[in-house]
Amino acid sequence: MPRPIEATIVLDALRHNLALARRRAPASKCWAVVKANAYGHGLERVLPALAAADGLALIEFDQACRLRELGWKKRILMLEGAFDAADTAAAHAHDLDLVVHCEEQLGWLADVPADRPPVNSFAKFDSGLNRLGFDSEGLRRAHARLSSMPAVRSVALMTHFANADLADGADEAMELFAAATSGLAGERSLANSAAVLSVPAAARDWIRPGIMLYGGSPFAQHGAADLGLAPTMLLRARVLARRVLQPGDAVGYGSLFRASEPMPIAVVACGYADGYPRHAPSGTPVLVDGMPSTTLGRVAMDMMMIDLRQCPGAGVGSLVELWGNHLPIDAVAQSAGTIGYELMCALAPRVAVQVEALAAHPGAL
Ligand SMILES: Cc1ncc(COP(=O)(O)O)c(C=O)c1O
Repeated sequence: MPRPIEATIVLDALRHNLALARRRAPASKCWAVVKANAYGHGLERVLPALAAADGLALIEFDQACRLRELGWKKRILMLEGAFDAADTAAAHAHDLDLVVHCEEQLGWLADVPADRPPVNSFAKFDSGLNRLGFDSEGLRRAHARLSSMPAVRSVALMTHFANADLADGADEAMELFAAATSGLAGERSLANSAAVLSVPAAARDWIRPGIMLYGGSPFAQHGAADLGLAPTMLLRARVLARRVLQPGDAVGYGSLFRASEPMPIAVVACGYADGYPRHAPSGTPVLVDGMPSTTLGRVAMDMMMIDLRQCPGAGVGSLVELWGNHLPIDAVAQSAGTIGYELMCALAPRVAVQVEALAAHPGAL
């Protein structure tokens, strides 16, 4: 018998969210960001729902090659570019677009033998994240070098926002990008999910939505449902045991929760080895047979305890939604002091995954 915990990936929701991203930037092409195993959803699983994207964007070269094996014929953008000369060769062999953010990457491209088919490049400007990318002068030099390289088919310009999730948070970065790129030829790509949803002027030639495709909100203040996004990952487990605490009884490792009255609790088949955050405190929301409840005490490797005072009828076998359709992943993340991105990406390999296939007709949601 498998453990009674299961994740469900809802492909119609993913297709719906991609369509919403496209509607927010109707004149732009769209890179669907699928790094980190499609934000924990499984690259192969999500592929059928992303057919309407113009390209896929990710970090991992082995996964990019896998996408080609799986038959993805449209463009693929490597968001951090090559990690070494071998990756540069792989990009030429598999027709992968390369972000170029540093001198070393320029050098690897300059050394590509003349007989290789050229690749598309995206020269990256650092607009304030201080992570990857050239400064203004470096960008102009990189643009000129890339434009003259036989190994390069096209040179586009990109940046990644540090604060697009805050009101007016992309303004300064957009001004810096405009100044740094003024007069330079090539397509532009700026917008992550937050910008797709809140900064129409950032849409430009290519948008790069990630979290919104997976039904997560990029904003602390706006829920995904308010943004019209549908959850793509549901995590559900069942109750393994029911017990009644007496006043003074403690629950779980470290005895972090102590009952002050007689109370029924449930032990649920989900722990941090499934990807549930260990640092989620008592009071993190769950749903038991559809009714709101909360966690109690410390999350263990394979189990967690929850309060049954509001759901006295629940018992062994009751269904507990950890996140999904009725309990936004962002609400759980917020209680645990993190973001929905981290919870999705942490879904553990031991959790069985069921994929809800695409409906024949899009727009079912
Ligand atoms: C370069 C780049 N573009 C786009 C994205 C997508 O961002 P989000 O998931 O916030 O939409 C990411 C993700 O971190 C990224 O690193």
